[in-house]
Amino acid sequence: METTNSIYGARYPELKAVMNELVGEINAAAQAVKAKTGVNPVEHLKYRIKAEDSMREKCRRKGLPETVESALQAVRDAIGLRVVCPFLDDVYAIRDYLVHSAGLELVEEKDYIRHVKPNGYRSLHLIMKKNGYYAEIQLRTISMDTWAALEHQIRYKKNVGDSALIFEELKRCADELAATDVSMQTIRAVLYEEGE
Ligand code: GTP
Ligand code: MG
Repeated sequence: METTNSIYGARYPELKAVMNELVGEINAAAQAVKAKTGVNPVEHLKYRIKAEDSMREKCRRKGLPETVESALQAVRDAIGLRVVCPFLDDVYAIRDYLVHSAGLELVEEKDYIRHVKPNGYRSLHLIMKKNGYYAEIQLRTISMDTWAALEHQIRYKKNVGDSALIFEELKRCADELAATDVSMQTIRAVLYEEGE
């Protein structure tokens, strides 16, 4: 890819390097949690630099000029990481590790697990800063990830997002999945106590 015409300009390689360092931080967090509990708290990890056209579209939507400054300072999710965890406790264990990591600053936290969005969306969003670059880290359980993927597909691929019935049904699915997450967490806690 030609980076000189990119909205990220000459900063693209640095942006990528910071993203890779954050991947390293999350792997370190997973190892630290595993050392304590014996099980891996990360089911999978995805990451990306926001695509050129998505970043330009977001700048326009926010009324920002399409510049490197907008892309890297005003918009704070040029770097995006998604950490998918088996259990609810794992989400907060990874969060706590990241928040206490040297060189990583927590800029903003949105807990859509404790404060569920009206449509049922759940995830923990952290805006973190490293070496002057912002990154959005989304942490969620497998159930939450399943729901978000399907809801996203329904909302963007079909034009049914404004139907009240679909909205209510999706909300119900999200709440049922959330109840299952709590049950699974309880089962794990009971098994751990028995194993001690
Ligand atoms: P932006 O200015 O677009 O960043 O809006 P915001 O900061 O209010 O967004 P927020 O932090 O709430 O969410 C950002 C990201 O979370 C989105 O790009 C999605 O990846 C995810 N997300 C938020 N809400 C939903 C939702 O209702 N459904 C799904 N599938 N994903 C969501
Ligand atoms: Mg955002």
